[in-house]
Amino acid sequence: MGTIVVTGASRGIGLELVKTYLAKGDKVIATYRSPEPPSTLTLLQGTNQLTLHPLEVTDSQSIEAFAASLEDTHIDVLVNNAGIIGPDHQSYSDMDVQGWKQTFEINTIAPLIITNALLSHLKKSRSPKVLTISSQMGALSRESIGMFAYRSSKAAVNKVMQVLALELKAEGIIVCPVHPGWVKTDMGGDEADITVQESAEGIVKLSQSLTMNDSGKFFTWEGHEHAW
Ligand SMILES: NC(=O)c1ccc[n+]([C@@H]2O[C@H](COP(=O)([O-])OP(=O)(O)OC[C@H]3O[C@@H](n4cnc5c(N)ncnc54)[C@H](OP(=O)(O)O)[C@@H]3O)[C@@H](O)[C@H]2O)c1
Repeated sequence: MGTIVVTGASRGIGLELVKTYLAKGDKVIATYRSPEPPSTLTLLQGTNQLTLHPLEVTDSQSIEAFAASLEDTHIDVLVNNAGIIGPDHQSYSDMDVQGWKQTFEINTIAPLIITNALLSHLKKSRSPKVLTISSQMGALSRESIGMFAYRSSKAAVNKVMQVLALELKAEGIIVCPVHPGWVKTDMGGDEADITVQESAEGIVKLSQSLTMNDSGKFFTWEGHEHAW
């Protein structure tokens, strides 16, 4: 039984990760950004397994308040899941630049800032892990067009996590970006390949099997190594 933090847990993959970890008997600290906890999460409360905290991942005060609220809690797994697809206009000839910057703030910068803010809690774990939900849409090895803001934010967070993995190796902290599959959520849409249950089951299984040798690698939800 471990203690897991999942960001962006109000819906989609984050919510299903919360349900899956709870079903496995873990303690889960789930974060949401709305002023009040969403009913999707409050419905899951009832035992002392689940704690809910507000967290706007781009707001430094919100991050500080969240970290402070954890007091001396240890974190075994941090899942940086919160993310956005980016602005409606993100082609090379029609770019919403402000929206691109916001996409970077949420998808690329926040996972690093949050991981650092929670570092002292991760260090209290015997086997700390940081999984950042990235996307194969950011893989440099895949040739595909469009979605400049989203793709670049995920390519960048992959590099951020690869560097962080090297820097946190001495601390014994495993760091991996993960492609969750193309998942039926508000973001992925109804035509996506897999359900949230399939994705979350795979990610939870992966988080349980990762060793220090895996740190700094890019994985798929199925536990396979993904080409950068
Ligand atoms: N679905 C896919 O096919 C797919 C594929 C590859 C990668 N991913 C990645 O998987 C992760 C989850 O995606 P999803 O499909 O579950 O998306 P989703 O259904 O749109 O859910 C996104 C979650 O992130 C939260 N969030 C967004 N911006 C935030 C912010 N600034 N601060 C705090 N929370 C914020 C949302 O909170 P609110 O409810 O308050 O908006 C929501 O809980 C994302 O990183 C995404 O890029 C998804």
